Amino acid sequence: MKKSNKTMRAVAIDEFGGLEKMKPRQLSVPEIDANEILVHVETAGVGAWDPFEREGGFAKEFGVEAAFPYVLGSDGAGTVEAVGDQVHNLKRGDRVYGVNLMSPKGGFYAEYTAVKADNAAMIPRALSTREAGVLAVDGVTALNGLDKTLQVKPGESVAIVGASGGIGHLAVQLAKRMKARVFAIASGKDGVEFVKRLGADKVIDGRREDILKAAREFAPQGLDAALITTGGKPAEQTIAALKKGGRAAYPNGVDPVPNAREGVKLTSYNGEPNPPAFAKLNELIDGGPFEVHIARTFKLEDAPQAQKALNDHYLGKLALTLS
Ligand SMILES: NC(=O)c1ccc[n+]([C@@H]2O[C@H](COP(=O)([O-])OP(=O)(O)OC[C@H]3O[C@@H](n4cnc5c(N)ncnc54)[C@H](OP(=O)(O)O)[C@@H]3O)[C@@H](O)[C@H]2O)c1
Repeated sequence: MKKSNKTMRAVAIDEFGGLEKMKPRQLSVPEIDANEILVHVETAGVGAWDPFEREGGFAKEFGVEAAFPYVLGSDGAGTVEAVGDQVHNLKRGDRVYGVNLMSPKGGFYAEYTAVKADNAAMIPRALSTREAGVLAVDGVTALNGLDKTLQVKPGESVAIVGASGGIGHLAVQLAKRMKARVFAIASGKDGVEFVKRLGADKVIDGRREDILKAAREFAPQGLDAALITTGGKPAEQTIAALKKGGRAAYPNGVDPVPNAREGVKLTSYNGEPNPPAFAKLNELIDGGPFEVHIARTFKLEDAPQAQKALNDHYLGKLALTLS
C-alpha cells in the first residue's frame, strides 16, 4: 500500500489478542484509491463486535490475511478531507458517516481513515457528527432487519429484543417511523425509561419481567414479527410469542443463536452498508426527532477502557472522540 508522509494518531494492534494489544500509535495517513474518500474522523463508534475483531474473529471468518499494524474501529463519522477521482457524490468538507470493516488501510480508531465512498453517506440533517459517529453499522443493521428482512408493514406488532442497546434503540424509532406497533424488551429500569421516551408502545424489562405474558397481553393473536439483538431467554420467549406465520430476524453475531420454532420464519442476516440503505436510513431519521444515544465517550487513547466498558450495562452506544 502507498503511504503518505503525513502522520496521524491511531490506536492499533500488532497482533490479534486481548485489550493489552491495543496501543496508541503514530501512523501514516492512508492514501486513497479512486473509489475512496479520506475522512478526518471526529467520532468513532465502539461496537459490541469490536472485541471480536480485535481477537481476530472477523479475519478468521472472512478468511482475510490481516495487515499489521491494524487500526481497529468499523464505524465513525467526520469530515471529508479528500476524494478519489471516481467519487462524485461526496466532496471535501462534507460531514459524513460510514463503515470500514477489515480494511487493510485501517479503521476509525484514528484521526484519518480511507473509506469506500459506497460505504459512506452524508450525515442526516437532524444529527450531529458526534451522534452519527455511532450510527453506521447499527443503523443499517436495524434498518435491514426491519425493512428488507422482516418486511414490516404499517400496523403490524413488532417486538424489539434488546431495545435499549445499540441496534435496539435505533430499531424502536425506525419501526415507529414505519408505523408498526412496537413491543420493546429493554434492559433495566433505566433501559425501560429510555425506550419509553423513544416512543415504543409498550416497554418491559427483559431482565426482570415475564416476556411471554407481556407479549400476549400486547398482541393476543400473537406478535407479527421480532427483531432479536440479544440471544438466550429473551429471544426464546419472544419467538414463543409470535403468531403462526410470524417472522423473526437476528443479525449474525447474536449469541447464543436463537432457535427456530415450527410455524415461524427465523432469518439471520447482516447489516449492508450501501447507498440505497444509507439513503433510506437518512430519510427515515430526518422524518422527525430522532435520538442516537451515546452513553459514554472516551478519548482515542482510552480505547482499551472503552472496549472494556462494553461489558458493563449502558444505554445505546459507546464512542471515542478524536477532536
Ligand atoms: N451481522 C451484522 O451485520 C451485525 C451488525 C451489528 C451488530 N451485530 C451483532 O448484533 C448484536 C447486537 O448488537 P448491538 O450493537 O445492538 O449490541 P448491544 O448494544 O450490546 O445490544 C444488546 C442489548 O441487549 C440487552 N440485553 C441483554 N439481555 C437482555 C434481556 N434479558 N432483556 C433485555 N435486554 C437485554 C443489552 O443490555 P445490557 O447489556 O445493558 O443488559 C444490550 O443493550 C451483537 O451480537 C452484534 O455483534 C451484527
